[in-house]
Amino acid sequence: MIAANSVQHNSLGKINIDSRDQYRCEYIFAFVRRALGKKTPTQSFSNSKSASPAEKNELFKRIRLQQTNTHIDFSNGDTFSVYDQRYFYRNLYKYILVSLYLQSNYEHFRTYNKICDVGAGSGTFLLAWLMTGLYLRYGRLDGEIVLSPLDYKELTLNDTNGFQNAVSQAAFSRIFRNSIGNIRFSQEDLLKKKGDPSCLYLCGYVLTNIEPNTNIFRFLIGKCVIVDFPEKTREIEALAWKRRRFASTSFSLHSKISSNLIKPIKSVAVEVHSLISGPEVPSDAAHLQFAAE
Ligand SMILES: C[S@@+](CC[C@H](N)C(=O)[O-])C[C@H]1O[C@@H](n2cnc3c(N)ncnc32)[C@H](O)[C@@H]1O
Repeated sequence: MIAANSVQHNSLGKINIDSRDQYRCEYIFAFVRRALGKKTPTQSFSNSKSASPAEKNELFKRIRLQQTNTHIDFSNGDTFSVYDQRYFYRNLYKYILVSLYLQSNYEHFRTYNKICDVGAGSGTFLLAWLMTGLYLRYGRLDGEIVLSPLDYKELTLNDTNGFQNAVSQAAFSRIFRNSIGNIRFSQEDLLKKKGDPSCLYLCGYVLTNIEPNTNIFRFLIGKCVIVDFPEKTREIEALAWKRRRFASTSFSLHSKISSNLIKPIKSVAVEVHSLISGPEVPSDAAHLQFAAE
């Protein structure tokens, strides 16, 4: 446990991605997209019916409203499929940006071998984290992708919904083929438990989606990399200040998107709002390769 008076809360501010790092993110992104046959996981691996245009519009409206904390029930596979088909590739790019930023600038982020994607959906965040780690280790991605148990001892995809577990399992089996046995699939509600300090938790747009009254304070004592709406990351930062029991660092990454990827990402630029909680948060941006503003 960290002593209350030593707990740090920092902001690294807004960080613009330069063209070299944009190129590296796009290289990893294009590799994963090819490996998935340029489809999203629910397009490839589920029999979920396609929603009507009116149903899709209603869901997108509610997702935008999430910034004011609208709870969306993703236990319905059709709802999740609409979400995945609209946001999978955009989120994949965002998670690659965060993964590259952290793993290339902070040594300890490359060494975690127990990693859990919480509220994993299609497993997008863990996929980005692992592919970025492999790219940084080997300088390129090609051939069969192997996850060595020496590098990754315990990998978990966690989602309270069975449909999402089945979809992420199918997507990971396609990409990691012979290494799929190294990955665990769990349906436990980890957010109601105390965070395990030996595990790195990846939390992508899950905290905006949990039941409004869930107390996540005990979970956040563990090491988490959170990507969410800025309103949510600010709320967690405020909780860290108030409780003074867990450290946090926030930052936002901004990247342009090359013209050939605008269609799958559905945007000309992306902004990622992230917050890291737990005992080993980065406290200064001085040595970063990425250009900080
Ligand atoms: C908006 S989706 C995000 C999925 C994925 N992280 C991504 O970025 O594409 C939120 C996911 O969190 C899951 N979820 C909601 N509450 C959860 C909880 N308490 N524990 C684990 N998963 C949860 C939902 O089933 C849903 O798949």
